[in-house]
Amino acid sequence: MSKRVLTTEAGAPIADNQNSASAGVGGPLLIQDQQLLEKLARFNRERIPERVVHARGSGAYGHFEVTDDVTGFTHADFLSEIGKRTEVFLRFSTVADSLGGADAVRDPRGFALKFYTEEGNYDLVGNNTPVFFIKDPIKFPDFIHSQKRDPFTGKQEPDNVWDFWAHAPEATHQVTWLMGDRGIPASYRHMNGYGSHTYQWTNAEGEAFFVKYHFKTNQGIRCLSSEQAAELAGKDPNSHQTDLLQAIERGVHPSWTLYVQIMPAAEAADYRFNPFDLTKVWPHKDYPLQRVGRLVLDRNPDNVFAEVEQAAFSPNNFVPGIGPSPDKMLQGRLFAYADAHRYRLGVNHTQLAVNAPKAVAGGAQNYGRDGLMAVNGQGRGAKNYEPNSYDGPAETGRPLSAPLAVSGYTGNHEAPLHTKDDAFFQAGELFRLMSEEEKSRLVANIAGGLSQVSRDDVIEKNLAHFHAADPEYGKRVEEAVRALRED
Ligand code: HEM
Repeated sequence: MSKRVLTTEAGAPIADNQNSASAGVGGPLLIQDQQLLEKLARFNRERIPERVVHARGSGAYGHFEVTDDVTGFTHADFLSEIGKRTEVFLRFSTVADSLGGADAVRDPRGFALKFYTEEGNYDLVGNNTPVFFIKDPIKFPDFIHSQKRDPFTGKQEPDNVWDFWAHAPEATHQVTWLMGDRGIPASYRHMNGYGSHTYQWTNAEGEAFFVKYHFKTNQGIRCLSSEQAAELAGKDPNSHQTDLLQAIERGVHPSWTLYVQIMPAAEAADYRFNPFDLTKVWPHKDYPLQRVGRLVLDRNPDNVFAEVEQAAFSPNNFVPGIGPSPDKMLQGRLFAYADAHRYRLGVNHTQLAVNAPKAVAGGAQNYGRDGLMAVNGQGRGAKNYEPNSYDGPAETGRPLSAPLAVSGYTGNHEAPLHTKDDAFFQAGELFRLMSEEEKSRLVANIAGGLSQVSRDDVIEKNLAHFHAADPEYGKRVEEAVRALRED
C-alpha cells in the first residue's frame, strides 16, 4: 500500500521533512523553506490559555438514562420518560494546580457534565463536594489567588491558604470536608459528583421546586491517605487520567446513580438553613434522596486537546424545566464561565464538536454571526436580523423556568441568615459524624498545613473556627498544631 503524502497546511506535498533548506551545504537557512517556517510557527501556537481554575482534567463521553419518574417536578425533555437516553460528555478536574500539576493531591475535584439534550445542551458544572468554601462570588478571585501559586514565591503558600480561611469562617465546613478522608479521591471513578448549588425545576403546570443533585459512584468511594497520595503523585502525576482512560479502554465503564433532593419552592423561605447558601447541605432526613437515573461513561475522546482542553461548560446553559436559584455564587457563575470561554477559546467555541448543541441539525439557530474562526454559516440567504419576514428562527414566548420571587431594596447585602444558620454548625455536625480514626486523620491533616503558617495570629483565627464548630475538634487541632510547632 502506498503511503499517504505528507502535505503543508495548504495541502501541497512536502519533499523533505528531515533536512531544512540551507544556502549551500552547511550554510544559513532559506526563508523560502515553507515547511520549516510553517512547522515552527504552528508549533509556537499550540498552547491556549489554561483554565484559570480546574486547569488539569480528564474527560469522557457516555450517556444518561432515566430510571425513575420525575415528571411531577420538571418538564425537562431529557428527564421526560423512563428509559430515555441522552448523550453526555463529562470532564473531571483538580482545581488549584496548573496544567502541569499532579492528580493525586488534596483538592476538590470538578465534575462538569454536559447533557446533549434534544432541547439544547444542559451543563451541570459541579464538584465532588456538596458544599463550597465561600458563599459570595465577589470573594472568588481572592479565594483562588490565596490557593494558587504566590506571585512572588511562585508556589502555593500555607500562609496564603490559611490567611484566606482565617478571614472566611464560612469555609470551615468545606475545609473539614477537604481535610477529611474524602479530600483525596483514589481516582475520578471512585468519587461522587454533586451539583452543589441549589437549582430550580419547574413542572408542566408551572410549579417550582428547588433541587440538589447527587451523583453517587457505583464503583464505591475510594480515597488516598496524604502519604499514599504524595507517593503516587511522584510516581504517576497522571494517575487519574491513566485510571479513567484505561478503565474505559478495557470496557470497564464507570457509572454513577443520580439522586436529587427536592424542596417545594414555598418551603424555601422558612427552612432552618438558607437553601441558597452553598456552604450548607440539606440534611437527608429533611429532604431525602430520590433516584432519577444512571450516568455511564463508555468512550474516551479521540483527541485530548480538541475535546477536553477545548470543552466549555457553563452553568448558564439551562434547558426548559431547569433554571437557576437565587444562590449568589451560582448567579456569579452564570456570568463567569461563558466569559472565560470567550477569552480562552474565542466567541465561536460553541461551534466546536464537543460544545456544539446536537438538538438541531446545523447547530445553534440564532442571529449571532461572524467573529474569529466562524465556521457555521446559517444557510444561503438566511437573514442576520430578527424579527424578519423570511421564516428565520423565532422566539417561543415560553420561559425556561419559573420566575423567582424578590423583595426589598438593591444593595450589597449579605445572604439572609435562617434560624439555624451560622458558619460552624454544619462543620461541627460533619466532625461529629466521623469515626475516631477519621477524626484523627482529619486533625493530623489540618495540623500538617496549619502548623506551617508563619504568623501566630493567622493560626489563632483558624483555631477559633474549629473551636466554634466543636470544642473537641478545636482542642485536638490546637494540640496537634502546638506539638508540630514545638518540634
Ligand atoms: C463564583 C464562584 C466561581 C467562579 C467565578 C468560577 C469560575 C470558574 C472559571 C472562570 C472556570 C474556568 C472555565 C473555563 O475556562 O472553561 C471554572 C471552572 C470550573 N469550575 Fe468554577 N467558579 C466558581 C465556583 C465554582 C463552584 C462552586 C464549582 C462547583 C460546585 C465550580 C466548578 C467548576 C468546574 C468543575 C470547572 C471546570 C469546568 C471544566 O471542566 O471545563 N466552580 N470556574
